[in-house]
Amino acid sequence: MRFPFLKNKERKVEKTPTTTLKVDVHSHLLPDVDEGAKTIEESVKIISELSELGFEKLILTPHIMRGYYSNSTTKIKQRFRTLQDAIREKEMSIKLEIAAEYYLDQYLLSDILNNRELLTFQGENGERFLLFETEQVKQPVHLWEAIKRMKKVGITPVLAHPERYSFLKREYRLVHELYDAGVMLQVNINSFSGYYGTEARELAEYLSVAQMIHFLGSDCHRNEQLEILQKTMKGSSFESVLRGQSLLNNSLMK
Ligand SMILES: [Fe+2]
Repeated sequence: MRFPFLKNKERKVEKTPTTTLKVDVHSHLLPDVDEGAKTIEESVKIISELSELGFEKLILTPHIMRGYYSNSTTKIKQRFRTLQDAIREKEMSIKLEIAAEYYLDQYLLSDILNNRELLTFQGENGERFLLFETEQVKQPVHLWEAIKRMKKVGITPVLAHPERYSFLKREYRLVHELYDAGVMLQVNINSFSGYYGTEARELAEYLSVAQMIHFLGSDCHRNEQLEILQKTMKGSSFESVLRGQSLLNNSLMK
């Protein structure tokens, strides 16, 4: 059976269904800090095109992954100020906010435990959302401990693109367990077009039908992803994804 866990599903978050997406919560458009945009010019160009797609606010989420992207909060904030200056200079009205996409490892655990500054984004009621990603194939050893620790210090964990991990594609039940434990789910828009493969599209569709998606994100890194994003967002099936969910994206527009 394709949708084995949908019976007796209860939604925890009750919001008005969304018809347009004004806020993007996941992108790699801070220049030269990860494998996303490389220069200020490239960032500004992509931001301007996202604005034309209807986005009014972008939450930028550069990778923080020790050993690959050793981005300190100081470095990220400093680069963000430079980008904001460039956006202001161009008189663009789109709002930008800085957060991060944390790789779940012992360093993140240690940062939480030692109360170090974390780049989170804020909900309409002051909630602190932390976007995190995990390894792709196996269930990460620190998964439940990290979730427990975040919640203990008042941070709401937001799992980036659950539909892309093999360990979740193999076991939908685990996605339900995460959801029931209070982990918010951020699905990538391009997953609905099959950009990340058939299995990722199927899990994204499953989460949409189950109304389990809290946030949608572009996860935009570079220009060529924009064309797919544009096609996906203009498709009629995406409209039904939006209408079928109680997304929190637009509640971040403040
Ligand atoms: Fe990402």
